[in-house]
Amino acid sequence: VATELRLTPAAGRIGAVVHDLELSGSLGPETVAAIESALYRHKVLFFRGQQHLDDAGHEAFARLLGHPVGHPTVPSADGRYIFELDATKGVRANNWHTDVTFVPSYPKASILRSLELPEAGGSTVWANTAAAYDDLPAPLKVLAESLRAVHTNDYDYAATLALTPELAENREIAALFRQVFVSTAFKTEHPVVRVHPVTGEKSLLLGAFAQRVQGVSGADSRALLELFQRYVERLENTVRWDWQVGDVAIWDNRATQHYAVNDYGDQPRLVRRITLDGDLPVGVDG
Ligand code: SIN
Repeated sequence: VATELRLTPAAGRIGAVVHDLELSGSLGPETVAAIESALYRHKVLFFRGQQHLDDAGHEAFARLLGHPVGHPTVPSADGRYIFELDATKGVRANNWHTDVTFVPSYPKASILRSLELPEAGGSTVWANTAAAYDDLPAPLKVLAESLRAVHTNDYDYAATLALTPELAENREIAALFRQVFVSTAFKTEHPVVRVHPVTGEKSLLLGAFAQRVQGVSGADSRALLELFQRYVERLENTVRWDWQVGDVAIWDNRATQHYAVNDYGDQPRLVRRITLDGDLPVGVDG
C-alpha cells in the first residue's frame, strides 16, 4: 500500500515541507519508502513540531533510513551518533559544504533537529547540486566531468573558529577545538561530478572541504573550484529554512550543500545531527 505524504514545496528547485507526520522509530515501511522517495525528489525535507524526539528517538528514526555513522573526528554528544553544533562553543557551520566529504564514503544523508534557537536569525540554506550541474553550459559540463578534487578536513571547524575573533582570543578554547576537530587529518579524492546511485542524476561534488583540483596548480585550481561552486550558490538553486524549536530537516547529502547562517551574535543556537553511512562516489566514467 503506497502511503501518500502531504507535501508542500519550500522553494522552486529544492526543498519540501512534510505535514502531519510524527517522526519516530516505529513508522511503517510504506511511510519510510514515501519519505525516501520524497527525499530523492526534493533533496531536503522539513518537518515542524517534532519536539517529542530525544536523542534515542532521533537515532531510532534515523535507523529506518540507513546506518548511523559517527563523525570521524568529533566525539559524539551522547556517546553514540549525535553530532552537536552548539554556537556557544563556537561550532557554527557557516560555510557551504556537504557533510564530511573528506572521507572516501561520506554520509548519504543527514537528519538535523533543533533544540535551541536565537530570537531571530540562525537559519540554514541548502543548495541543489544537481540543479547546479544542470545549469552549467555544455563545455563546462564536459570540463567538470573530467576533474577530480582533493577533499580534506584541514579546512575544518577549527579554521572557522579561528575566524571568530572572540573565541580565537581565548587560547584555551582555541587549543581545545584544534585538538578535538583536527586531531586527525583526512584527505581523499572525489570526482567533481558524481552520479547519484539512486536517481542517476549528476551533481557537483565540491564545498568547503574541497581543497584543490587534482593535477591543476594553486591559482588555477582555486579559480576552477570557484567557477563551479558559483553555480551551486546561485540563489535559484537554494532554499532557506527559518527554524522553530522541534523542527527536523533531512537532506540528501549526495545531492546538496548547506550553509548555517551566522547572523545571531552570541545568542545560543543548538542543533543535533545524525548522519547515515554512505557509499563511494562514482563519476561519469563509472
Ligand atoms: C550542519 O552543517 O550539518 C549543520 C547546519 C546547521 O547548523 O544548521
